[in-house]
Amino acid sequence: MIFITVDDKNVPALGFGTWQLRGKECTAAVAKAIDIGYRHIDTAQIYENEADVGAAIAGAGIERKEIFLTTKVWMTNVKDGALQSSVDESLKKLKTDHVDLLLIHWPVKDVPFAEQMKSLAQVKAAGKARLLGVSNFTVAQMKEVVEELKAPIVNNQVEYHPYLSQQPVLDYINEHNMFLTAYSPLARGKVNDSKVLKEIGKKLGKTPGQVALRWLLEQDNVAAIPKAASEKHMRENFEIFDFSLTEDEMRRIHAEARPDGRMISPDWAPKWDKAA
Ligand SMILES: NC(=O)c1ccc[n+]([C@@H]2O[C@H](COP(=O)([O-])OP(=O)(O)OC[C@H]3O[C@@H](n4cnc5c(N)ncnc54)[C@H](OP(=O)(O)O)[C@@H]3O)[C@@H](O)[C@H]2O)c1
Repeated sequence: MIFITVDDKNVPALGFGTWQLRGKECTAAVAKAIDIGYRHIDTAQIYENEADVGAAIAGAGIERKEIFLTTKVWMTNVKDGALQSSVDESLKKLKTDHVDLLLIHWPVKDVPFAEQMKSLAQVKAAGKARLLGVSNFTVAQMKEVVEELKAPIVNNQVEYHPYLSQQPVLDYINEHNMFLTAYSPLARGKVNDSKVLKEIGKKLGKTPGQVALRWLLEQDNVAAIPKAASEKHMRENFEIFDFSLTEDEMRRIHAEARPDGRMISPDWAPKWDKAA
């Protein structure tokens, strides 16, 4: 495993995504992922699977402190008071007294960031979240919370894979002792179509997906949280620690980025940063 150190905490750089896993399927998948060796699990209030994830962690036969657990506050819960009680509800479902990382899922404009950051700080002060972060925030929004509001935000979880450059966000997190978590790191399966990834993978005896995940983890302060329902995919995505990429291979994969590479941009998304 590769670890990212932030605020004296070690974050396993490869995590397990759980969006669209629910019920028994979700509990079985997370249990299998932990069995395979994943120690970083990503969920969210809106995924409606926190109880299923919690059941898997509680039944895994390992200490709670072995798992780096992230959840995200949904957009309708960001007001003062609602945020804190929604986190209590999440912790109850997750069967734990704290999460390791608590994120604001999407930037919501009608509740001031100052109010949201204050509520997050209260949750942290109460010991219910070890680290705080955001998700889908632009550089301008990160500047507001980190520099103007001085909130202890250490993470931005954003879509990141070879087809989408995140250079502005990467530059910002690297200048501010933060880390980036890459969601949809396999471009929801589409990385398998890349000629460049196929070619590099063939040389290394790896799949295009494994090459994409390795490319993410070789970048400073980048974590990745691929989702997989099948054991085969879970194992494949975990087998990325026995090879590395050359500078030239890294550069060729960066060059796969394209203007229309973003896959997730709902109506409520902010005006995204454009890579130069
Ligand atoms: N913060 C946010 O707004 C946000 C948004 C989106 C996602 N996320 C987080 O990021 C996680 C990952 O993103 P994602 O689920 O959108 O996409 P992803 O991880 O890029 O891709 C998941 C898809 O790829 C397939 N897959 C996984 N491993 C594979 C392999 N080795 N070979 C071939 N196909 C493979 C999966 O199939 P099977 O499941 O059938 O194995 C699934 O269809 C989510 O689960 C969630 O935790 C966060």
